[in-house]
Amino acid sequence: MLIPTVKEAPADAEIPSHKLMLRAGLMRKLSSGTYTYLPLGWRCLLKVIGIVRDEMNRSGAQEILMPSVQPIELWQQTGRDVDYGKTMAIFKDRHDHLNVLAPTAEEVVTSVAAGEIKSYKQLPINLYQISFKFRDEFRPRFGVLRSREFIMKDAYSFHATPECLDKEYWNMYETYKRIFKRCGLDYVIVEAESGEMGGSGSHQFTIPCPSGEDVIVYTEDGSYAANIEKAEVDAPPVIPSEHSESRNLLKPEEIHTPNVGSIDAVCAFLKNKPQDMIKTLIFSSDKDVIVALVRGDHEINPEKLTQTLGGKHNELATPETIEKITGAKVGFAGPMGLAGKISKLIIDHAVAGLPIGVTGANKTDYHVKNIVPGRDFPLSGDNVVVADIHIAVEGDTHNGKKLLFKRGIEVGQVFKLGTKYSSKIGCNFLDDSGKGNPCLMGCYGVGINRIVASAIEAANDENGIIFPISIAPFEVIIVSVNQDDTDVVQAGEKIYNELKNKGIEVLLDDRDERAGVKFKDADLIGIPVRITVGKKALQTGNVEIKLRTEPKPTLIPVDTAVAKTVELVNSLKQKLNE
Ligand SMILES: Nc1ncnc2c1ncn2[C@@H]1O[C@H](COP(=O)(O)OP(=O)(O)OP(=O)(O)O)[C@@H](O)[C@H]1O
Ligand SMILES: [Mg+2]
Repeated sequence: MLIPTVKEAPADAEIPSHKLMLRAGLMRKLSSGTYTYLPLGWRCLLKVIGIVRDEMNRSGAQEILMPSVQPIELWQQTGRDVDYGKTMAIFKDRHDHLNVLAPTAEEVVTSVAAGEIKSYKQLPINLYQISFKFRDEFRPRFGVLRSREFIMKDAYSFHATPECLDKEYWNMYETYKRIFKRCGLDYVIVEAESGEMGGSGSHQFTIPCPSGEDVIVYTEDGSYAANIEKAEVDAPPVIPSEHSESRNLLKPEEIHTPNVGSIDAVCAFLKNKPQDMIKTLIFSSDKDVIVALVRGDHEINPEKLTQTLGGKHNELATPETIEKITGAKVGFAGPMGLAGKISKLIIDHAVAGLPIGVTGANKTDYHVKNIVPGRDFPLSGDNVVVADIHIAVEGDTHNGKKLLFKRGIEVGQVFKLGTKYSSKIGCNFLDDSGKGNPCLMGCYGVGINRIVASAIEAANDENGIIFPISIAPFEVIIVSVNQDDTDVVQAGEKIYNELKNKGIEVLLDDRDERAGVKFKDADLIGIPVRITVGKKALQTGNVEIKLRTEPKPTLIPVDTAVAKTVELVNSLKQKLNE
């Protein structure tokens, strides 16, 4: 077998799963973010695919297969060619048509459904595929956690009513719980923004681990968990300030702050705290200019801002626009006097709760102190909104409960899409009164390769991978220690053949290697059950059996080895199915 284990991982492998997948010979890198799966790696992926397929079929979804090459026109129809930007790989075919390497398939599946769905009587329907996706990620890293080419299970459901979509959404939610449980993963479900997919209503399934790229925000009692992009925070209590009582007596006062741009620099100069500062951020899109205010110690959450603006995405304004609006160089913007000149003023509720603050004076090289929200700039009005737009931080609460933070890997996501795609692509059905309506849609993705990598992130030790049995490339490894001893060789092969006949996925290490080398490899590749056939034990009629998770083997009679192993494998599998 081709199982090229190696002692050292290449230097660009930073995290355990990446290192171990290379060291255990599961895969080899071809180019940045693309990998060849060798026999063991591909077996793992196939095991995950098997579980996903099994649970999707059980849920009532139907498997299809769509092309990996998609015409760009479909993407232009929804405008997502622009949204995806450089992440989407585009190429010209011999007839000069532009094609896309599928990064996902909402457009394609919606156009397929548009051709086939005529009446509400055909609904609901959930179509899924398990296929390669290509995303030209800005920074492919962490091995297959963020690669450019990967395998995704993507499902798309079509409905006549919101109730029906809701029902299927929770059906998928429960299906995902079973998938990740069966894969042996301890997952956390978090509320999520629907991001590029648009629409509303979404959950992500995440695997907590230090190398995760996502941040999970949660309360200790488990009543709330959300992705940081979504995490909603309470309006903070008003910060006590020595000025708070007499603040109305204090009038705004301009201070000359030459060459003092950053929040830290202003604070050092004025001897105040970042939480007393009001940061003024200016965004623009088309003809709109949006001003957002957050406290100096907070960062704006672009997803929350987009939601507040009804889903409209905005880019930070250019220095020219900023100068035009504020009359000052970048770095000196403040909210005073702006409300009339802009499309919208969005104020983070933590800013609205400030008793008094410091901000830019809309005058180059000047800041202004003693700014009272509501007095010096409006907190209400036609184009003024007070909302939660900052990124949750330590100290924030949700429903009065302290928020905690940990890192996680997103392995799957469920979305309610609504009619975002169906209305643009013309995927309509006739209802029972004969009226045409766009289908309501949901979409549901699982990253197959990420599941394997996250399982390895979640369970490994200094010796290697510790695979959950359900996704291990083999369930059992027989290490035949003394290859020069006919009895040992024969006993090993006998157990191997019998286990195979009983449907156990078994690997026989009959290489001419030292016992130590074989044990090291068995541990490294993480096979859950190891049977050791050695000369000494065999002379007394025994073999050793050992779980990867346990430090010491047990001696069992050789003639019970097969029955015992089958029992052990079944009980390990059973635990993941409960
Ligand atoms: N570059 C990638 N490499 C491996 N798996 C990926 C990658 N991008 C997405 N996936 C997997 O595909 C699933 C569904 O895709 P989706 O469009 O929701 O990804 P995404 O939210 O864009 O992922 P991310 O935020 O990590 O880039 C994800 O939950 C994830 O498991
Ligand atoms: Mg996602």
